[in-house]
Amino acid sequence: MKALVLTSVDGAIEFKETNDPLPTPGEVLIRLAAAALNRRDFWITRGGYPNIEAPCVLGSDGAGIVEKAGEGVDSSLVGKEVLINPSLQWGSDQLVQGPDFRILGMPDNGTLAEYISVPVQQITEKPSHLTPHEAAALPLAGLTAYRALFSQGKLKPEESILITGIGGGVATIALKMAQAAGARVFVSSSCEHKISQAITLGASSGANYTNEKWSDAFLSKNGHVDMILDGAAGAHFGDLLPLVRPGGRVVSYGGTAGPSVTFPVRYHFWNQLQLIGSTMGSPSDFAEMISFVKTHELKPVIHSISALAEGASLISSMETSGQFGKLVMEIS
Ligand SMILES: NC(=O)c1ccc[n+]([C@@H]2O[C@H](COP(=O)([O-])OP(=O)(O)OC[C@H]3O[C@@H](n4cnc5c(N)ncnc54)[C@H](OP(=O)(O)O)[C@@H]3O)[C@@H](O)[C@H]2O)c1
Repeated sequence: MKALVLTSVDGAIEFKETNDPLPTPGEVLIRLAAAALNRRDFWITRGGYPNIEAPCVLGSDGAGIVEKAGEGVDSSLVGKEVLINPSLQWGSDQLVQGPDFRILGMPDNGTLAEYISVPVQQITEKPSHLTPHEAAALPLAGLTAYRALFSQGKLKPEESILITGIGGGVATIALKMAQAAGARVFVSSSCEHKISQAITLGASSGANYTNEKWSDAFLSKNGHVDMILDGAAGAHFGDLLPLVRPGGRVVSYGGTAGPSVTFPVRYHFWNQLQLIGSTMGSPSDFAEMISFVKTHELKPVIHSISALAEGASLISSMETSGQFGKLVMEIS
């Protein structure tokens, strides 16, 4: 089969012929219709991810059709349209992943390929309101957004939330989820046109985080928010804390702008803020996320759909964060 393979731990990738996977007992073989990229794929190709192993097929998000059932798997699944939960071996604790937790697509072979074999418990029937491209764009970002907003952040209807870096794949689906839950959503971005797109999707207003003193302007225009959802971190993380009401929450799920932060601790302790971490999600988070997406007929925001052969250049393009939503690849 054709696949996008990480060929060296230095981050080289090649679109090449590789062996078809075979389903082992308890697994299903899926013919992938579409896959989607995540910032993780970019970090891996830049050596910015722990424990990189090669060769390996990249990709955490995918949707397709069950082609074959391995030993012990219900054969009636063959022919079903499914999407894949990329959160592997979460473990038994809902509060935190266990020591065997991994994300699909390095070290396990991932979704940027014509076929993938995964444990049957990782698949879920494709919600009927989603196209295969939309289904492929949902799993990793949808799971991360759902857990961060609801399981960890406990977002309530009528609360207000600021979602930072709205161009991101997690941020765009989080906007739709928070709104569907009845929250008032504000966004930040480096681009005015992304703020406008977010407002078209229902955000109340937005601020450009590249403007000097943007957080002061945000506060005088909108007042405090109950919660912030942030995937950027970095040197300006501390500017977010004064935007949260006393007793509010900051939920952090990523560090696109850098892993080290400035932290104005006075705001944290004096205002009794909760700083909450969130990563991917458990199988029950995934099941709840799918159910929420079906109930509200939510669709992930897709920036573009490209051929799998374009994968390497598309991953490089993530450096400049031009996208609004998910970069999807058509496979079959
Ligand atoms: N913990 C987890 O389980 C988990 C899961 C998924 C992702 N992540 C991490 O979360 C982050 C976002 O992931 P993603 O896949 O959604 O990424 P993405 O689609 O590549 O989006 C990245 C976005 O980050 C925003 N950004 C960059 N610098 C920023 C800054 N200084 N302040 C605010 N926003 C900034 C940009 O938004 P604008 O274009 O609007 O400026 C950009 O579009 C990544 O660091 C990723 O590794 C973690």
